Amino acid sequence: MSDDYELMDSGDGKKYERFGNVSLVRPCSQAMWRPERPADWLRATAMFDREDGNRWHNRGALPKEWTIETSGIKFRLSGTDFGHLGIFPEQRSQWKWIRDTIAANGGSRNSVLNLFAYSGGSTMAAALGGAEACHLDASKGMVQWARDNAALNGLKNHPIRWITDDAHKFMERENRRGRRYDAVIFDPPTFGRGANGEMYKIERDLKKTISLVKGVLSDKPLFVLFSSHTPGLSCIVAANIMSQAFPDAKIETGEMLLEGRSFPCPSGIYCRVVFPRAVCYNSMP
Ligand SMILES: C[S@@+](CC[C@H](N)C(=O)[O-])C[C@H]1O[C@@H](n2cnc3c(N)ncnc32)[C@H](O)[C@@H]1O
Repeated sequence: MSDDYELMDSGDGKKYERFGNVSLVRPCSQAMWRPERPADWLRATAMFDREDGNRWHNRGALPKEWTIETSGIKFRLSGTDFGHLGIFPEQRSQWKWIRDTIAANGGSRNSVLNLFAYSGGSTMAAALGGAEACHLDASKGMVQWARDNAALNGLKNHPIRWITDDAHKFMERENRRGRRYDAVIFDPPTFGRGANGEMYKIERDLKKTISLVKGVLSDKPLFVLFSSHTPGLSCIVAANIMSQAFPDAKIETGEMLLEGRSFPCPSGIYCRVVFPRAVCYNSMP
């Protein structure tokens, strides 16, 4: 399987990554070590920093858009004003796990809700595993980006509902309608805004998110997958919260990593809540 993503090197608060033919240097607060191959970084296509506000260097050398394939999923990329490209490659192990777990547990018999879904990596992983999916993000532009990605992956006619809404409001409505899901995936921001400006603050709202997620789970759910990039939210914190919410489930937790040629670089945490009916697919990174 071709993989167009690689962490080339990291250090001194930065990461040097390759996305197909494009290589970029961007901030990475966890990279407190020394770069291994600093001379190579001079070959980067472009650089982004936040030293003086959000700023690209050599942005003109970036293609307006380009496509890569990683973890068996194609993504359209573009350099946004905030330094994001439309992919969080540290989610690659989760995408593989989502796809394999669904495929091993009845594929198309499952329905999956993906909240705070960004450019749709987890939605596509669920769909490629066979599931029906519901993709939700507060940003209309991101929902369109995810739809374009799904089309790139041959999923244009796959049963995926595309929703632009606030995650809490949507789950409250789904609950009233009695709509249920076999798996829920959520990657909430530290701070974000809903489709109508609703404020989301993880330290204030996570408990409510989890209780709403519980309310939309089917009678025999497969899994809940929580991930986060919030500084200070460790995987043990996540496991403690989830084991209180779901005492009968198996909890698997760890760090999400950017990986490639050099040291793995921690980029957030994941917490998988696996319910008793799931055939446990062991793909711990
Ligand atoms: C951290 S990103 C998710 C990254 C993505 N899951 C991934 O790893 O590829 C957070 C996303 O949440 C969305 N968002 C922020 N506040 C929201 C809210 N209240 N309801 C729904 N989506 C929200 C943002 O538009 C953004 O796309």
